[in-house]
Amino acid sequence: MESVERIQISVPGHPYPAIIESGLLHRAGELLREIVPNRTRFVVVTVAPVRKHWGEALGASLNKAELQHVWLEMPDGEKNKRLDVLEDLAGRMLKAGADRKTVVLAFGGGVTGDVAGFLASVFMRGVDVVQIPTTLLAQVDASIGGKTGVDMKEGKNLLGTFHHPRAVIIDPAVLSTLPDREYRAGLYEALKCGFIRNKDIFDYMERNRDRILQREQEPLEWVIRAAVQVKADVVSADEREGDLRRILNFGHTIGHALEAETGYKQFLHGEAVAWGMVAAAMIAAALQKTDSETARRIISSVLAYAPLPKVQTRGKRIARRLTTDKKTVNGVVHFILPTELGRVEVTPDVPERAVVQAVEELRYLSQSV
Ligand SMILES: NC(=O)c1ccc[n+]([C@@H]2O[C@H](COP(=O)([O-])OP(=O)(O)OC[C@H]3O[C@@H](n4cnc5c(N)ncnc54)[C@H](O)[C@@H]3O)[C@@H](O)[C@H]2O)c1
Ligand SMILES: [Zn+2]
Repeated sequence: MESVERIQISVPGHPYPAIIESGLLHRAGELLREIVPNRTRFVVVTVAPVRKHWGEALGASLNKAELQHVWLEMPDGEKNKRLDVLEDLAGRMLKAGADRKTVVLAFGGGVTGDVAGFLASVFMRGVDVVQIPTTLLAQVDASIGGKTGVDMKEGKNLLGTFHHPRAVIIDPAVLSTLPDREYRAGLYEALKCGFIRNKDIFDYMERNRDRILQREQEPLEWVIRAAVQVKADVVSADEREGDLRRILNFGHTIGHALEAETGYKQFLHGEAVAWGMVAAAMIAAALQKTDSETARRIISSVLAYAPLPKVQTRGKRIARRLTTDKKTVNGVVHFILPTELGRVEVTPDVPERAVVQAVEELRYLSQSV
């Protein structure tokens, strides 16, 4: 498997690779033989749509490598990212005879990855997990960095662990069956990687918009590699939620508030982040952290991947929510604002009126995209 490009995530004690190539799913068994040698028992945690489209390919590849495996389907969707679903999966693992040497394969989007990762981190005090992400969001973001979790009725991701996978196996070809909105939602997170740390991603996504939207494998692979490299660099430099890792939250301050204000129904996460990045660019320009040309280019590159659901929430509501958000430190909302293309800074002193104004501008702008 020498030809396949690997991006190393260098976390202390347990570095691991993200391996990215079109068609890789068909070689997953062979790869696993190398990544987790001497392990022959696997449980595949997945959801019905993923199994329907790609289960046969993964199963055939595991069989070819003579790796025993059982399938554990969990119910689909964010509403099932819950502790009782995890407990049910653990029970089914036991019934299937899983032990400490069993390897969990997280085969699905970010929901599957978070639940299966959490499950692996606590099953018999911890077993290995390999992430095989099947949404673009999970490929460029959720599968890398070791965060796992489930939601509670009080809020999202309130229970969780840090449990890095042994490897992340990324096959861009599986994105061919992803619904269009889900696909574009992932593209906004890839754009985010460009805004925070690599101007090349931004330029590339501006130039190759049509090919990327058509899911051509070559440009898609390029974008995934570049975005994964950014996430890997940030996570490697700052394993836990330290200062550097905060830049990954670009667009997420207002994005999360928009999602919460609309009951997580109107926006996919990536779509809310897209609006959040537009708002952050507006705020940065208003506060003269960046020039208006940079802000304009950020905004137009996001909107180039529209349509996006309309923003109907009032600026005041968003501002009020931000001051009561858990990410608030001593009552001050920390924003990640762009300074130039490929650079952001953490800003603690964004006045409420700048937030209100930016969201009101989003409402106006979103009428026309
Ligand atoms: N752990 C982290 O660091 C991290 C980072 C970002 C997001 N997340 C989490 O990720 C979750 C969102 O992940 P998501 O956007 O991937 O959602 P998701 O896992 O719900 O997947 C979206 C939908 O796409 C379907 N699907 C997945 N792959 C498919 C494919 N190849 N073809 C057809 N359909 C497919 C799924 O069945 C689902 O219906 C959230 O819960 C979020 O909290 C975690
Ligand atoms: Zn995100």
